Amino acid sequence: MAAVNEKELAALSKRVGKNLSKHRFEHCLRVSDYAVKLAKQNGVDVNQAAVAGLVHDYAKEVSKKDFLKKIDKSGLNPDLKNWGNAVWHGVVGAEFIKDDLGIDDPAILQAVRLHTTGGTHKEMTGLDKVVFMADYLEEGRDFPGVEEARQITDKSLDQGVFYQLAHTLSFLAGKEKVIYPKTFEAYNDWAMYLKD
Ligand SMILES: [Fe+2]
Ligand SMILES: [Fe+2]
Repeated sequence: MAAVNEKELAALSKRVGKNLSKHRFEHCLRVSDYAVKLAKQNGVDVNQAAVAGLVHDYAKEVSKKDFLKKIDKSGLNPDLKNWGNAVWHGVVGAEFIKDDLGIDDPAILQAVRLHTTGGTHKEMTGLDKVVFMADYLEEGRDFPGVEEARQITDKSLDQGVFYQLAHTLSFLAGKEKVIYPKTFEAYNDWAMYLKD
């Protein structure tokens, strides 16, 4: 991707801010910052990380009606309609980012798609992992274990991804919530990949 200068990033930031409440926009700014930090540590393109982090939750406040319309319009798998915002704002959110913001870099769009579900170790690029982890670890996060998760991720991005998948799965199961199959698949894949 071509280098994004400060001016372009500021213009993009303004457009993202218009689509989000203040607290969520501030989260996006922090994810962008943390993604840049992780990108530098892991030899990932810093510009792509900054942009993907900034836009990752662009569609989080889109209405159910508009998500359902977008699934049809973009020709996405109709099974998606059985899920909700938690899955839509990543998978369908990428379509809003493409259509509204004109971002067509496939690497950025994939990082947005995978940021809530994760993916297998073969599927996830360095950028995908950086955005996935930045969303979890940005400086505003303060869940129990966040410091441990930051330290693990500083040592190994892959171990960080596995930590997040394991903890998210057990958190959701603990609350007796439905878990998206892709997240299970990702967890099993990383468990086999890292534990062997
Ligand atoms: Fe998100
Ligand atoms: Fe987020």
